[in-house]
Amino acid sequence: MLSCNDHRNLLAWYDTHQRELPWRNTNDPWAILLSEILLQQTQVSRGMVYWKRMIEAFPTIESMATSEVDAVLKAWEGAGYYSRARRLHALSRQVMLPSDQGGFDGALPKNYEDLLSLPGIGPYTAAAVASIAFGQPVACVDGNIRRVMARHTAQPDPAPKAVQAWADSSLTSERPGDWNQALMELGATVCTPRRVKCGGCPIQSTCKGRHEPELFPTPKKSRVKAISMLAVVEIAGDGRPVLHQRPLSGMFAGLWGPLYHEANSMTPDQDWLVCGTVEHLLSHRKLSVHVFLKTTDVPPLGTLRSTVAISSLDEKVLAMAAKHQHAAQKREGVPQRAKQVNAETVAWS
Ligand code: ADE
Repeated sequence: MLSCNDHRNLLAWYDTHQRELPWRNTNDPWAILLSEILLQQTQVSRGMVYWKRMIEAFPTIESMATSEVDAVLKAWEGAGYYSRARRLHALSRQVMLPSDQGGFDGALPKNYEDLLSLPGIGPYTAAAVASIAFGQPVACVDGNIRRVMARHTAQPDPAPKAVQAWADSSLTSERPGDWNQALMELGATVCTPRRVKCGGCPIQSTCKGRHEPELFPTPKKSRVKAISMLAVVEIAGDGRPVLHQRPLSGMFAGLWGPLYHEANSMTPDQDWLVCGTVEHLLSHRKLSVHVFLKTTDVPPLGTLRSTVAISSLDEKVLAMAAKHQHAAQKREGVPQRAKQVNAETVAWS
């Protein structure tokens, strides 16, 4: 548990050391919600780029609710974890509904329970928005706060309930939003996973883990599954790729891209050109995408890429295919046809 001095010191430290972040200069709940959704799975430096882009495209909740989900995905393009964008769109529409139809008459609700009832809002985001935007005394728990708690109490693997209880007991009712952000900021900038800067920590004197901070918490084993896919980039008569909208559930739902197949569920056609393999890391998956170029029996028109949302993975896949398309056109070396490739060199497993 943190002492009164710890409270005072941490808030004073936050007042002078907090990073300059654009969503900290506003009390608009929509802008704050947007920042919290983005920061769930995106680093602050990249989050800023996307936050600016999103708030410009959708300055109000109503502006998002009256847009199509495809426009939201397009603005979110490159930020990853696209289900966040689709849920945010669903949230905006629900908030705009009248209260007798399960909505909130166009205004984000102020309390934790109502926020939690909205699409895409879990306990962390509900607590962050309730406290930061509305000054409600609810404690947040995220990965940074868990690490601060584990170190401060010298616990290698604190259970989620213990972390929440610690956060609840250390919450100040005076400035709850700043308090939650101060703890997160400490975890993000001082009490970091590696190269901990204990010398600059405002609560070091009461920290039980300060002598061996990197023992707390014990790192979690990451379980990354390797997946092998095959992408077939079809080039139309106008030289553009033919892109398809992905189904609304599953990986990259609702985004556009070339057709994908599981690598061991199909044999590449002999006429496809082998372009190479793109590696792409997601949170729990390592994708190896073997890229093929299809230039036979093509439709006349491809897809205008600027009009559809494409994942960063597909940007890489299309760039690789484009390089081979140009090389083939210039006849600078003849790309291999699929039949010439030894299956082992493509590593299909
Ligand atoms: N991570 C997510 N939201 C944050 C915030 N408001 N301040 C610091 N770190 C955060």
